[in-house]
Amino acid sequence: MASTSYETGYQKYFGDRMANVPHEAAGQEEAMRRIYDEWASDFDKETKEAGTVYHKPLAEYLDAAIKQVEDKPNSEIKIMDAGAGTGKIGVELKKLGYTNVQALDISQEMLNEAKNKNVYNKFICTPLSEQRIQEIETGEFDAVICAGTLIKAHVKSSALVEIIRMVKIGGLICFTLRYNEVADYQDMMLELENTRRWESISKKKVPYFTAGDMPKEAEAFLYKVLKH
Ligand SMILES: C[S@@+](CC[C@H](N)C(=O)[O-])C[C@H]1O[C@@H](n2cnc3c(N)ncnc32)[C@H](O)[C@@H]1O
Repeated sequence: MASTSYETGYQKYFGDRMANVPHEAAGQEEAMRRIYDEWASDFDKETKEAGTVYHKPLAEYLDAAIKQVEDKPNSEIKIMDAGAGTGKIGVELKKLGYTNVQALDISQEMLNEAKNKNVYNKFICTPLSEQRIQEIETGEFDAVICAGTLIKAHVKSSALVEIIRMVKIGGLICFTLRYNEVADYQDMMLELENTRRWESISKKKVPYFTAGDMPKEAEAFLYKVLKH
């Protein structure tokens, strides 16, 4: 199951939006911005039809880890939702009492949808890449959550370095990877561990989609930041 690409399912529910995305960085970013800008108004409806279910379990996974390392109330924990899309993770975080949450995404139209959910207090429209994001201070966040966005055609593994930079030393990073793409991120994840930039706290399977021909689970990871 882990090696199945599920292309048929993705195509059935989301069409051929992701066809012919260029591999080189600038072309990929431009394509992603355009694809998600056009998709934004239908995104929640189409992902609901595909049975997307990972937002609640992922938010709960991060929440449980935060409780292990922080003694502040949830309302004082500053979280970046990286690749926030239409804000479904923000909705789940708010249910858990997190009210200091920011949203970053490459697509302004996706962020506009997220604004309607009233769960974020700041929006940053910029790509996640190895480039430093000027609006974000080093160590600014207690945690970053990145759901369904570390996808090969979306964000390169080198962006993990910039994600680490956003988080305070001792802070947390929580993200999903598709099973069939774990290998594409693994070298970078290991390099960051070997160079003591972060340490693994845990990983677990989370429910991903419920529709028959879509992947049922994704791999979720939790890391603690050690060094910028
Ligand atoms: C599959 S959606 C997931 C959205 C949201 N996290 C969720 O789980 O519902 C992927 C998101 O990543 C964003 N994205 C794609 N490439 C990106 C990049 N290089 N930097 C930042 N966001 C990106 C898209 O605009 C889109 O909102």
